[in-house]
Amino acid sequence: MARRSKPEKASSEAVADRLRRMKWWTDARFGMFVHYGLYSQLGRHEWVMNRERIPVREYEKLARTFNPVPGCPREWARLARKAGMKYMVLTTKHCEGFCLWDSSQTDYNAVKRGPHRDIVAEHVAACREFGLKCGFYYSMMDWHHPDGHRCATDEKARRRFCDYTTALVRELMSKYGKIDILWYDAPLPLDTPERWESVKRNAMVRRLQPDIIISDRSGVPEDFGTPEEHITAAAAGRSWEACMTFNGSWGWRPTPAADWLPARKVVTMLKDVTAGQGNLLLNIGPRPDGSVPPEAVERLAAVGKWTSRYGEAIYGQVDRPAGLEAWSGCGTWTRKGKDCYFWVYNWPGETLAIGGLHSKVKSVRLMPDGRTLRFKQERRRLLVRGLPRRCPDKAVEIGMLKINFVGRPVQVLSWGIVDWC
Ligand code: GLC
Repeated sequence: MARRSKPEKASSEAVADRLRRMKWWTDARFGMFVHYGLYSQLGRHEWVMNRERIPVREYEKLARTFNPVPGCPREWARLARKAGMKYMVLTTKHCEGFCLWDSSQTDYNAVKRGPHRDIVAEHVAACREFGLKCGFYYSMMDWHHPDGHRCATDEKARRRFCDYTTALVRELMSKYGKIDILWYDAPLPLDTPERWESVKRNAMVRRLQPDIIISDRSGVPEDFGTPEEHITAAAAGRSWEACMTFNGSWGWRPTPAADWLPARKVVTMLKDVTAGQGNLLLNIGPRPDGSVPPEAVERLAAVGKWTSRYGEAIYGQVDRPAGLEAWSGCGTWTRKGKDCYFWVYNWPGETLAIGGLHSKVKSVRLMPDGRTLRFKQERRRLLVRGLPRRCPDKAVEIGMLKINFVGRPVQVLSWGIVDWC
């Protein structure tokens, strides 16, 4: 459902306010997406109702058997924390229309049916307990509500459906204390933000939650872009967050081990978003009972080992590594102010070389302990010596050097051989 978003023209106060609201988020870099709903019981993707054209009355029966194990949001939050994630976004209502909270607008919800529990409240409590910022995903599209489809062609239905949407969003924004992110999705079937009345609704959201951060999927750009299943940096100055599945589906789907992203790939995604000053929202699709698939648990534990040692490179205010080459043989760069981080993907042994450096190097340190390493620079080539023979990182085999330059770093690696001589 990705919608292209153009940067808004905003007043300087609006820009300053946005920077203030976004500070924790741009520092956080890494969050957990949780897709959990009735569809989780079928294990055939969260769009199963639509893809298999399951009639509403038949699909609704899934509400009776929906029975998450007590405390499952705590399990998600504990795992997120362990992996080094700083926030967690739950699907409060996906396109299927089932609300995970006690809505006064519909009894198609987890308190009136199924588990008779407010899963949204449990999610909020779990976030607070584990020190995570708390986000609500909300699908504007609704396959269950009678007006969810006909609103596109019937003005009275559109009126009712917009009011329904506003009422649900108002509940989410007022029942649970401070909420940090509103992650809208799927602005369908209405074709414009005007017909959705998004600007007005989002103004209400901001009145209720002055610090909230809003995604770009209500048809207006709001605070951040949401590239989906690819990591593509937005123009400098625009915040963005890549959302990625773990195994090709957002909702739970049992898949062969080969479909699951290896921990090393997740860390590489962290490098990619960091190099573009973006965030990574990595999804887990809990199983029918709300527990996390063991494949995700295992991989996130390894990611957590890595982030706990090398997190300095990713968290906080980062810069784009302008002036440095994207690929230098055994590794690649990210940057944070004067500190340049060289992520070593193929550990070369005791000596490491980086070519094409036109600027003078001040110091080279081995992460994570920061031990100073000997180096020399000759013919634009940096040679670092005295490295351990094997990569110091055992979790995902991605090691790191922290390199400081005298002045602005410049690296040029042409295809030719002229600058070798
Ligand atoms: C896509 C999927 C939707 C999912 C979303 C997350 O739009 O269709 O089901 O929730 O991505 O970004």
